Amino acid sequence: MKNIVLMASGSGSNAENIIDYLKNTNINCNFHIITNKKDAFVLERAKKMGVSAEIITKKENEEGVLRQRMLEINPDLIVLAGYLLLFPSEIIQDFPDKIINIHPALLPKYGGKGMYGNFVHEAVVANKETETGITIHFVSEKYDEGAIIFQAKTPVLENDTPAEVAQKVHQLEYEHFPKVIVGLLSEEN
Ligand code: GRF
Repeated sequence: MKNIVLMASGSGSNAENIIDYLKNTNINCNFHIITNKKDAFVLERAKKMGVSAEIITKKENEEGVLRQRMLEINPDLIVLAGYLLLFPSEIIQDFPDKIINIHPALLPKYGGKGMYGNFVHEAVVANKETETGITIHFVSEKYDEGAIIFQAKTPVLENDTPAEVAQKVHQLEYEHFPKVIVGLLSEEN
């Protein structure tokens, strides 16, 4: 049994997509969702899917609550899927190479503090980039700087709006993120 923790701050469409995908593989998984926002839509998705979920706020992260929970759960993989807080460094040390994040751009471009969600796609369009994409990477103590596991690209057309770019990027996320996770889980003993 693989213990998978999915962390999301908002909608959680990636978290749902990953859970749906993994349920249809032969990997036996136990899922748990953690969000830092009490009104995050990911909580509705968890309810609908019958997956356990809990809220751990930024303040509680700082008080060590998230770390305590991780030590109890002892996850095989922690997946940050739209989780907007800086991940506590003690947990990174507790679970080396077991924490991954998805970033909606081709890192090292458009990464770092403040570069999340639509801000990323707005910057890509404003800079007239001809391509963008996704980056799945290990989590390190700095935003968006851990070792890259996987990238995929999509073209940005001249008249694309940030919303259109976001949609293309989401499609890439839905297609590849679950597969990368299966690959990582299969590598483990
Ligand atoms: C995704 O685009 C992800 O890359 C990011 O935030 C977004 C989350 O979307 N960093 P959702 O909550 O999975 O719908």
